[in-house]
Amino acid sequence: MMQLLNFALLLPAVYAAQAPAFVKPAPGPTVASPNNGGPSDGSLPKPTVVQGKQFDRFIQIWLENTDFESANSTATFANLAKQGILLDQFYAVTHPSEPNYVAAVGGDFWGMADDNLYNIPSNISTVVDLLEAKNISWASYQETMPTDGYAGFNFTSPNYLNTSAPAYTYYVRKHNPLIIYDSVAGVPARAKLHRNFNDFAADVNASALPQWLFVTPNLVDDAHDTTIDFAAQWLDYWLAPLLNDTRFNDNRTLILLTFDETETYTVNNRVFTLLLGGAVPDNLRGTVDSTYYSHYSALSSVQANWGLDSLGRGDTNKYVFALLSSSFAGTDVESRTMSNVFAAVAAVTGYQNVNITGAAIPLTNLTGTIPGPLNPNQFVPFSAPNTSAVGAGGGPVFVAPGVNTNLTIDKMPAPVNLTAANETVPAAGAANASASGSAPGPSGSAGAGGKSSSAERRVERVGVVGAVGALVGVVALFV
Ligand SMILES: *[C@@H]1O[C@H](CO)[C@@H](O)[C@H](O)[C@H]1NC(C)=O
Ligand SMILES: *[C@@H]1O[C@H](CO)[C@@H](O)[C@H](O)[C@H]1NC(C)=O
Ligand SMILES: *[C@@H]1O[C@H](CO)[C@@H](O)[C@H](O)[C@H]1NC(C)=O
Ligand SMILES: *[C@@H]1O[C@H](CO)[C@@H](O)[C@H](O)[C@H]1NC(C)=O
Ligand SMILES: *[C@@H]1O[C@H](CO)[C@@H](O)[C@H](O)[C@H]1NC(C)=O
Ligand SMILES: *[C@@H]1O[C@H](CO)[C@@H](O)[C@H](O)[C@H]1NC(C)=O
Ligand SMILES: *[C@@H]1O[C@H](CO)[C@@H](O)[C@H](O)[C@H]1NC(C)=O
Ligand SMILES: *[C@@H]1O[C@H](CO)[C@@H](O)[C@H](O)[C@H]1NC(C)=O
Ligand SMILES: *[C@@H]1O[C@H](CO)[C@@H](O)[C@H](O)[C@H]1NC(C)=O
Ligand SMILES: *[C@@H]1O[C@H](CO)[C@@H](O)[C@H](O)[C@H]1NC(C)=O
Ligand SMILES: *[C@@H]1O[C@H](CO)[C@@H](O)[C@H](O)[C@H]1NC(C)=O
Ligand SMILES: *[C@@H]1O[C@H](CO)[C@@H](O)[C@H](O)[C@H]1NC(C)=O
Repeated sequence: MMQLLNFALLLPAVYAAQAPAFVKPAPGPTVASPNNGGPSDGSLPKPTVVQGKQFDRFIQIWLENTDFESANSTATFANLAKQGILLDQFYAVTHPSEPNYVAAVGGDFWGMADDNLYNIPSNISTVVDLLEAKNISWASYQETMPTDGYAGFNFTSPNYLNTSAPAYTYYVRKHNPLIIYDSVAGVPARAKLHRNFNDFAADVNASALPQWLFVTPNLVDDAHDTTIDFAAQWLDYWLAPLLNDTRFNDNRTLILLTFDETETYTVNNRVFTLLLGGAVPDNLRGTVDSTYYSHYSALSSVQANWGLDSLGRGDTNKYVFALLSSSFAGTDVESRTMSNVFAAVAAVTGYQNVNITGAAIPLTNLTGTIPGPLNPNQFVPFSAPNTSAVGAGGGPVFVAPGVNTNLTIDKMPAPVNLTAANETVPAAGAANASASGSAPGPSGSAGAGGKSSSAERRVERVGVVGAVGALVGVVALFV
């Protein structure tokens, strides 16, 4: 008994030594610092603003691995909710991290069920194709990334949380969605729009932020390696002052603050999500919108706002990936949608959402149950987009160069278990494709293939937090 008590008393000391305390990476979000990433190469040109129906700038900020209740009960998030709209039925689309990120920009996660190194082939379109077709400027801002367009798997920098500790891996490619698509990474002008937080500071200071932004804080600031309280302190440091800065947030700016996925896999994948910014109508500040949304809503809402084309995948109502999964068996696909447009945007654009509640909400806390070109256990090749789908922007489905529109999803062969044959997913996602033809992979890549040769399955949120959690578990068991 005595021993157990001593063990329990030791626990806070163990935690204090190991759980890092928040440290500001820079004096402020618009000030340069080595902790923001490599030096800035100057600001972007001031963009020509393309007017949207409800907003002129869309900023997504992604945090990591947190259950709805955990964020909702944290003061910083509750206070932010008073300034915006809480979307309390917003769901991630799968587990783990990387497939959620690629889904939010490409309309599909391609069956991906891990955080490995992927290069999605160059004939697979993304939101960038849709934005550029309308001359809408964009950039992906990645905290503590070394250089513009960096395509490496991760990057390790001096440890600014604890300067006597070894260097730390703050940046990971798996949270930088567009660089995973060769249609973006393989085009130099697009690749260099992946910018770090020193570039972000330069762009804000020059009033040159683009119109569509994806923002990824580093692995400690986004709660991945830390806690929701740490991420809250980062929001107080980074987002709070920017909300008052018209170079970032003016009365035509809509900000989506969300999480990639829940930390708990055994509950459905509901993530705390807020709409913030000057474009939130005053009468909706501090309200809750309980419409069903998913990460695909970030695509459909942008399409609705600017009248964009669609990707013909999860961003459109007619997408049939749901039919491929046993998780969705027996449900009426047409009666629900994973791509509802944020109600505040739909009200202005006239888009009719298809709402669902309760048991009709699909379980998206799945991992590896969806066949796809990046699922080695249930491999099917990349299919063409559904060109008869109609997205929220009303435009046609974008068809990327090099797409064979005959390869519709209904013509795909039955899924094959490549793992059982000791094979990995092939280059270009086609069973007979050779490794030639796609853009060169990043350093550390096996080449042009869909995936790195060494499967590096990692458990999310490893190390410190897991170890402390295990200790808490052991103590709880004994006291
Ligand atoms: C979120 O937290 C607020 C404040 O504690 C609470 O009033 C509200 O009911 C919570 N919302 C949900 C959906 O749990
Ligand atoms: C986009 O900009 C180019 C070059 O200025 C112009 O030729 C084109 O018409 C513009 N497209 C749209 C949709 O405005
Ligand atoms: C970084 O990448 C290397 C291989 O390139 C890998 O061994 C290591 O586990 C990665 N670290 C993180 C934190 O992702
Ligand atoms: C900082 O790192 C050193 C070296 O790894 C370690 O001994 C020390 O406990 C760390 N300090 C804190 C506050 O975690
Ligand atoms: C932002 O402005 C509001 C209202 O003017 C003020 O209450 C708040 O303290 C400001 N926040 C920051 C971080 O400057
Ligand atoms: C929005 O901001 C612009 C530029 O600062 C200003 O001219 C306009 O009056 C503002 N509109 C509203 C509705 O506040
Ligand atoms: C997904 O969540 C549901 C509802 O909470 C739960 O019944 C189910 O077991 C979960 N699935 C997995 C794979 O954990
Ligand atoms: C969807 O249903 C929820 C729960 O009934 C409701 O609060 C929400 O307003 C509905 N959304 C729409 C767009 O009808
Ligand atoms: C994409 O391009 C590759 C390489 O040319 C080809 O094998 C594949 O069928 C194409 N996929 C689609 C969906 O068009
Ligand atoms: C698509 O199908 C049509 C009609 O069967 C055929 O003429 C055409 O060659 C096919 N295109 C490709 C790229 O296979
Ligand atoms: C695929 O094969 C692997 C290795 O034999 C096996 O572990 C896995 O369960 C199989 N998956 C499916 C969906 O058949
Ligand atoms: C796959 O590899 C394992 C271990 O190397 C071997 O035992 C098995 O026979 C191989 N299976 C096939 C289908 O080649």
